[in-house]
Amino acid sequence: MSKVVVIDHPLIQHKLSLIRDENTGTKDFRQLLDEIAMLMAYEVTRDFPLKDVKVTTPIETADCKMVANKQVAIVPILRAGLGMVDGFTRIIPNAKIGHIGLYRDPETLEPVEYYCKLPVDVQERDLLVVDPMLATGGSASAAITFLKKRGCNKTIKLVNLVGCPEGIERIQKDHPDVDIYVAAVDRCLNDHGYIVPGLGDAGDRIFGTK
Ligand code: PRP
Ligand code: URA
Repeated sequence: MSKVVVIDHPLIQHKLSLIRDENTGTKDFRQLLDEIAMLMAYEVTRDFPLKDVKVTTPIETADCKMVANKQVAIVPILRAGLGMVDGFTRIIPNAKIGHIGLYRDPETLEPVEYYCKLPVDVQERDLLVVDPMLATGGSASAAITFLKKRGCNKTIKLVNLVGCPEGIERIQKDHPDVDIYVAAVDRCLNDHGYIVPGLGDAGDRIFGTK
């Protein structure tokens, strides 16, 4: 069974409260999401392996550590996942970026795929799939299935800003090998598949489309 890590650092909780507020406009929403993503990236990378290196300081040669040659790709689920990419690449600047385009059919709530472009060596990379919202879990589950079908069999982590019990259960059932990182687990879904209390439609709030 995959683990669920709730990253509830005080700064993240503070920024998450601001981002939930219906009065937070597009510019601030985007900036807050970017900042939270960067803080989450810090925690998501906590288990990155280190290698020993020697560093010559102005005083002497010191035994130090550096991140071992970790091959990472960040995979935002379009559209809303794009809002988390810059925060992640600030912490992992050498990461490649793949894009998966999915939207949730408003009637069936089933994910519909419309775009995919991945790094050529995606099979050799650990993947961080990012999307602010984990609602029914349909989109994230479909994205991960798609990546596995493309031969990705290294570590896949799913990183969401807000999750809920339904979405977490879905991922744990479909992908027990994928750990889930969230800033909050909200109460439930409403009849339209929105997370309650949530923050509304993340894509619309990032891009100002409603
Ligand atoms: C939102 C969100 C997730 C999905 C979550 O995207 O960004 O991708 O819904 O819902 P689920 O867990 O029930 O699948 P949406 O379909 O609204 O598309 P958008 O990012 O283009 O706005
Ligand atoms: N997608 C969103 O953007 N918000 C939700 O609450 C659920 C799905």
